[in-house]
Amino acid sequence: STSIPPVFHNNDKGTFGYYTATERWPIIISNCINDLDNHLNQLSANLLKEGVADYELIESSGKVIKNKILALRKDIVKGDVLLEKFPEKLIAKRPIYKDFNLYLENPDDGQPPNSLTWANSGWLFSEVYLYNRIHQYFLESGSAYWIKQFDIFNAVKQSTFKSSIYGVLELAIKYKNLHPKFINELTYNAEGTNLDTLQILFNEFVEISLWGNATDLSLLTNATLEDIKSIQGAEARKKSESKILINDTKRAWEHLLSSNKNEKSGKRVDIICDNSGFELYADLLLALFLLDTRIVDKVVFHSKDIPYMVSDVMNKDLTILLNDLMDPSFFPRNDNTNDDPFTFLADHVIEYLNSEKIIIKDDPFWTNYFDYWSIDSNSEGSAIYNEFIESKTSLIIFKGDLNYRKLTGDRRWDRTTPFKAAIGPLSHNGLPILSLRTCKADVVVGLSDGVDEKLCNEWEALGHEYGSWWCSSGKWAVICFSEGTS
Ligand code: F6P
Ligand code: MG
Repeated sequence: STSIPPVFHNNDKGTFGYYTATERWPIIISNCINDLDNHLNQLSANLLKEGVADYELIESSGKVIKNKILALRKDIVKGDVLLEKFPEKLIAKRPIYKDFNLYLENPDDGQPPNSLTWANSGWLFSEVYLYNRIHQYFLESGSAYWIKQFDIFNAVKQSTFKSSIYGVLELAIKYKNLHPKFINELTYNAEGTNLDTLQILFNEFVEISLWGNATDLSLLTNATLEDIKSIQGAEARKKSESKILINDTKRAWEHLLSSNKNEKSGKRVDIICDNSGFELYADLLLALFLLDTRIVDKVVFHSKDIPYMVSDVMNKDLTILLNDLMDPSFFPRNDNTNDDPFTFLADHVIEYLNSEKIIIKDDPFWTNYFDYWSIDSNSEGSAIYNEFIESKTSLIIFKGDLNYRKLTGDRRWDRTTPFKAAIGPLSHNGLPILSLRTCKADVVVGLSDGVDEKLCNEWEALGHEYGSWWCSSGKWAVICFSEGTS
């Protein structure tokens, strides 16, 4: 058996993780300070308009939060600054802070107790810690406004979704045209009359959901409308097919069809969400396809409980997305009929939400630092594990890059390591896993011999300093399936 390699660390020179911790985090944090600033500039006027009495208090606690984030940024730029423990008194409000504190006291990566800094810690751990730290400042304000209503990444989430209009419209029209077929002649049946067509459509919707992950706000900070358009359309997907280095869609499809139903609730698929806006929209399309054709009876979306990794989905982001779709001032319409494709699509999602065939729920497990080797019966993710097992879910779809890093432990695997070897207990603990990931970090596994070398050479020939960073560019993707049985 393969031995387990170490995780990527922030001081591993030449890695994308090192570059992220030293260059990208400071930019991400600057952006978020600017957005908070913009918000603060209009805040008291807005709150006053709404008749909120303690607007001055809200404003001043907002400024305190901003200063704490500024100080955090300084620490990160310095690098050689200890990762502080979370304040004991906040543990009642956010119990997972205790897990972080225990880890800091006793890191499991061979480093001495209480020695982790921004510079020497594991990339995955410190990145997850970072977003929890930002959230700490909001919690400390004690203000319901900052804790419950405000999302520091909302402005960037919304403006990027708005500029996704071409992709959104193209897909909404496609869905509106296909919908009558889905619910009539293409319905899944035991005789298997339509299986060939359904499989083609499954491939297509899986690809839409996969490339939905390419529109990730953390890599697209300066993207233009044209850039976004070029990664969101059907034409772009066609061109990108050769960029899918591993494609297990067929195996996932076969498993989905042959898997057993839950006696009570029928066939279920789980989606571990990644980003809001266009990616969530693409994931909803996959869910609509599966439900309309009755291939499955229920789709459960799993979301984050705090603003996280810039653009990740929180429950309220689904509500915002549906409101955006129905709002002609957000997505301008060509005509004034009520039957426009945006509204049509939103209506169908809402119907399924009402009948609870689509469910969205958050859980602090998804914003904890544990990787997904812990989704197992005797580990930190046991509650999540048990839920998946008890519901007899037919497929757990992990969206995006960060989820892939957590599946593989963000470790320095040889890039030809089999996927099964890199996902630990998940390879045999009964969970059917499908990972849809555009590659935006150092780790990747499952490549055939020679592929990595070839891509490294190509990437270097294009003038990039590190050939291995093809894998952090977001231009390639992998679709990996594991049945969960050895
Ligand atoms: O710092 C890199 C990062 O922000 C990671 O969190 C992650 O690897 C990626 O960018 C975000 O991508 P995704 O939204 O696909 O998880
Ligand atoms: Mg994300």
